[in-house]
Amino acid sequence: MNLCIIGTGYVGLVTGSCLAERGHQVTCVDIDRDKIALLQQGQVPIFEPGLEELVAKNVDAGRLRFASTVSKGVRGAQVVFITVGTPPLPDGSADLSYVEAVSGQIAKAMDGYKVIVEKSTVPVNTGEWVKRTLRRHNVNGAEFDLVSIPEFLREGSAIADFMNPSRVVIGVESARAEVIMRGLFQPFGAPLVVTDIKSAELIKHASNCFLAMKISYMNAIAAICEAVDADVTKVAEGMGYDRRIGRDFLDAGVGYGGSCFPKDVNAFIRIAQELGYDFRLLKAVEDINQEQRERIIRKLKEALWVLKGKTIGILGLAFKPNTDDIRESPAIDIIRRLLEEGAGIKAYDPAAGENARGVFGEAITLCSSPQEAAREAHGLVILTEWDEFRSLNLSEIKGLMASPVVIDGRNIYDPREMARLGFEYRGVGR
Ligand code: UDX
Repeated sequence: MNLCIIGTGYVGLVTGSCLAERGHQVTCVDIDRDKIALLQQGQVPIFEPGLEELVAKNVDAGRLRFASTVSKGVRGAQVVFITVGTPPLPDGSADLSYVEAVSGQIAKAMDGYKVIVEKSTVPVNTGEWVKRTLRRHNVNGAEFDLVSIPEFLREGSAIADFMNPSRVVIGVESARAEVIMRGLFQPFGAPLVVTDIKSAELIKHASNCFLAMKISYMNAIAAICEAVDADVTKVAEGMGYDRRIGRDFLDAGVGYGGSCFPKDVNAFIRIAQELGYDFRLLKAVEDINQEQRERIIRKLKEALWVLKGKTIGILGLAFKPNTDDIRESPAIDIIRRLLEEGAGIKAYDPAAGENARGVFGEAITLCSSPQEAAREAHGLVILTEWDEFRSLNLSEIKGLMASPVVIDGRNIYDPREMARLGFEYRGVGR
């Protein structure tokens, strides 16, 4: 099939290269000419394991190409995917201006029947507006159908998630488009959930917010564990064997971050409000998540008393391991708070250092190893659970520090072992 993907961010590039890998002819479009120029030279502007190779392979095979105008991609394509960003507005609702703009551009370029796929994460009812916009700008009177296929891929394992999805949700209103979408997605071997467009849109927000809720729930349990000296990792293990609960996303820590959960929880609260429902449960999820960051500062103060003038080593800046993404990363917030308290920051991350430099400039010292971050530090705080940190020589680390205080925001170390090594150690909920 001839496919066009509009928006070459995470979702767009992964969708485009994976569909090309499945044998389709794909054109990826972005209005950012610099980005397209980079891609045409074989460079991938984001950090995602395996993506650069997959793009190169499919460009070489002649199945994947890039363009900077929508009309170029849309003409001749049977299916057009909208994968542009929907960043949060100051009030937390999703900014749909990019979705609107490309909908208009697609409509103007339509030269025959097209299936337009809404894949950006959007609030329920967006499909209605996209359809209206498509109709309004449909100068050639082309036939089209709108479909909603939400994307569930995670950063760091995006390609595997796309190639082996847990399910493919297809929101569709016409039999003609349904046949085409089934043809496109059946080969992935996952259950197809075929429904109306609004339900499909809701499935995305409902799923992400549910996962965020699991995390905040465990963080609340962690607070109770701390009050009674229980171990939240064991509580999670005990709960996780219940198949109705499941062990995934029960890790207490510094809270969730990234480009999806914080934005989606906030947007879902907003859309619910607009629809006349006060989503109190999700408001609590947000509050607990914010509180987790504050609790780290509190633990540091409990160990070090005054933070002003102290040096704090930070291990981990990315919002999760195996990515350089620091968007909404708890580490960024925590560092900001520590700087306000007058602490000096020495930070190390295997991939996200440069991105953090963009935020903090010279205000923090970026280190090239965990050892360097620990040297002369009064306290060391683990904020991302990179594998590299699990295998550190902790005796060496202790020897480097000014005082052996470790706050483990991801529970990667064993509290008993840390005590045996002579650390003053605090995890989350244990
Ligand atoms: C998420 C969803 O998983 C994905 O389906 C959706 O399409 C986009 O949003 P992603 O943002 O890549 O993907 O991150 P994910 O791996 O889900 O982690 C989100 C955050 O939750 C991270 O900050 C992570 O550290 C945190 N987390 C996750 C916990 O704090 N505890 C857990 O048990 C699991």
